[in-house]
Amino acid sequence: MILLSIFLVLCRTAVSVDTWCGKAYRSNDPSFDPGGRLEKTSSLPYPVLNLQIQPRMHPYLEEDDTGAFIIDARQSDIDPTTSDNILIEQQQDTNFNLYFYNWDSNSIFFNIYRTDTNDHIAGPDVVSINSTGTTVDFSLATFTPSFEPYSIHLVASGATGHTYTASTQLLRLPERNDGGSVTKIDSLFGALLVKDVDSSWKPLFPYSFYLNGNWLAESEDNMAILKALGYNVLHIVPAGGIGYNFTQLDEWLNEAQRLDLWIMYDMRWTYQNSSLVEWQVNLLKSRPNLLLWYTADEPDGQVDPLSAPQDAYKLIKSLDPYHPVSLCLNCENYYFQEYAAGADIILSDVYPIGTNTTWSTRYDTVCNTTYGCCGCDNCVGHNNLSNVPARLDTFRQYQTQLGLPQKPLWGVPQAFGNSEFWKQTPTPQEEVVMTMLSINHGAKGIIMWTFPTTPELVSVTSALADLLTNKCADLLLGADLSSGLAVDGAPAADVSFWEDGQRMLLSIVNPSYEDAVGLVELQLPINVTAYSFTSLWGENQWEAVDDGTGANGFLQKTGLPGLSVDVLLLALSR
Ligand SMILES: *[C@@H]1O[C@H](CO)[C@@H](O)[C@H](O)[C@H]1NC(C)=O
Ligand SMILES: *[C@@H]1O[C@H](CO)[C@@H](O)[C@H](O)[C@H]1NC(C)=O
Ligand SMILES: *[C@@H]1O[C@H](CO)[C@@H](O)[C@H](O)[C@H]1NC(C)=O
Ligand SMILES: *[C@@H]1O[C@H](CO)[C@@H](O)[C@H](O)[C@H]1NC(C)=O
Ligand SMILES: *[C@@H]1O[C@H](CO)[C@@H](O)[C@H](O)[C@H]1NC(C)=O
Ligand SMILES: *[C@@H]1O[C@H](CO)[C@@H](O)[C@H](O)[C@H]1NC(C)=O
Ligand SMILES: *[C@@H]1O[C@H](CO)[C@@H](O)[C@H](O)[C@H]1NC(C)=O
Repeated sequence: MILLSIFLVLCRTAVSVDTWCGKAYRSNDPSFDPGGRLEKTSSLPYPVLNLQIQPRMHPYLEEDDTGAFIIDARQSDIDPTTSDNILIEQQQDTNFNLYFYNWDSNSIFFNIYRTDTNDHIAGPDVVSINSTGTTVDFSLATFTPSFEPYSIHLVASGATGHTYTASTQLLRLPERNDGGSVTKIDSLFGALLVKDVDSSWKPLFPYSFYLNGNWLAESEDNMAILKALGYNVLHIVPAGGIGYNFTQLDEWLNEAQRLDLWIMYDMRWTYQNSSLVEWQVNLLKSRPNLLLWYTADEPDGQVDPLSAPQDAYKLIKSLDPYHPVSLCLNCENYYFQEYAAGADIILSDVYPIGTNTTWSTRYDTVCNTTYGCCGCDNCVGHNNLSNVPARLDTFRQYQTQLGLPQKPLWGVPQAFGNSEFWKQTPTPQEEVVMTMLSINHGAKGIIMWTFPTTPELVSVTSALADLLTNKCADLLLGADLSSGLAVDGAPAADVSFWEDGQRMLLSIVNPSYEDAVGLVELQLPINVTAYSFTSLWGENQWEAVDDGTGANGFLQKTGLPGLSVDVLLLALSR
């Protein structure tokens, strides 16, 4: 009894301190360890096989005759015993990764089975050690459409006969007959797929803003203005309390439907109230232009109950298995696994512009890894745009470390300023750099905070909308991404490319404020006999240079200005 009351007192004391990302931030509150850190796991002294299988599409539908599994077979030295396997198993759409310690060949043979009947589904086939993204087609004919997932397992063996297994869940849903939309996640590329007017599945690159509803209410023309600017998603930020005037919301969503805008429905204030979630999901789940749900906004920053996003997730999926669930994380390292468990898609909002990352101008304290709030959690440097892609890399690293399949990551670039911590609004150049750095590091959607924004940012993001949702979407969402290509003469440059055999999209970003001067040169990462290119963004001063061997090409230009972005589309022949 005494112990219990001491415990309660301690809890109350802890709760009474205002925290962000678990850190105290008021000058009269002392620093303490916020906890929740995902530490780098110790390396094992021997290689293990991290074998994973997952369905390519989440979900499959009655109309689909064939499906595919994705198989990853990374050799790893991560100690899996340090991750929380109970939490991993609680998640839907998650495979159970088994690690084995007798790695014995360069490739393994495998077969795939339906677990309840032990029916053979696919194989025998072979997958190389260290390969990822191997796809194996299979027939969906014997999987009766159902709201219950099917358990699937893979059995593999190496040269010495050692057996490896992995398992996953396959969802093949009944066709909708209520006019509602379906959004699939293509886990091979992290893309959303939606049904186009011509009834074929197309990848969608969501590019838009979190939208102030008051602005929308100002004029009946405002939604059409958004559409004309090229943004393709309507994400209204609810006001406090229940958040929406549902009569007005209904009119807005009808208008969005007429304008062909997709809905990202935000339940930030209500996601912890199950009756309100149920009511809202049932109200909207059959809309033909519903794209996805959005539950928690910065639950890690707010220190929401750790189970809250996951509880909302399970409830939403039980009411509407046809759309993904998303949330946005703000902290660099605070209960990532627990909060991320509550969504299919994780957004990251890192706002580095105009804030002092070491001294909180708002609360007059230092900011470090255990204390203070500076508006950019654990960010490094001043106006350092590289904090934005670094966070996406960190989240991807956490997922790898936890042995989880990669959930798609989206970026939330800063498009505001002159408030709270942030003394400046990004310039158009900074906005484009933050966006393209996010995409170079794997972001498959961009929802900026917030609209309305400055005329300069409206103008540049409208141009970027055409690039991302239109000109580049096929490659960004349908080809492998490779990052980290070097540019001679511009060491700060951040270069990624997407290649599908016939075409290559190159994104060359200089995240530094400094110009690189002199000759800069980039060697094409693939062997082609000829190629031509067009410039989709940036100053078209790159030149193709033959290296004399008739094989590899180079691209050259003089100087790479600070904060420049070049996007080139290459047509390849081999
Ligand atoms: C797999 O990759 C690791 C790390 O790059 C490497 O050490 C190992 O030799 C590779 N294994 C095989 C079979 O290629
Ligand atoms: C809600 O919206 C409707 C339609 O726009 C409007 O007529 C009504 O006055 C609004 N209600 C409130 C309480 O603001
Ligand atoms: C959930 O919201 C409803 C409607 O506003 C309210 O009556 C109820 O008390 C809320 N439940 C909780 C647990 O807060
Ligand atoms: C951040 O604040 C500290 C303490 O006031 C100050 O010394 C430093 O110059 C500031 N940095 C920037 C980039 O403004
Ligand atoms: C962060 O700052 C607080 C307050 O100055 C200090 O007590 C704490 O030790 C610092 N933490 C780290 C990790 O440096
Ligand atoms: C900018 O941020 C990145 C990622 O956090 C960091 O690695 C780098 O050191 C920072 N650069 C500066 C100049 O602070
Ligand atoms: C291109 O081919 C040449 C000659 O076969 C080879 O040496 C080089 O490594 C290849 N480059 C790439 C990037 O594959």
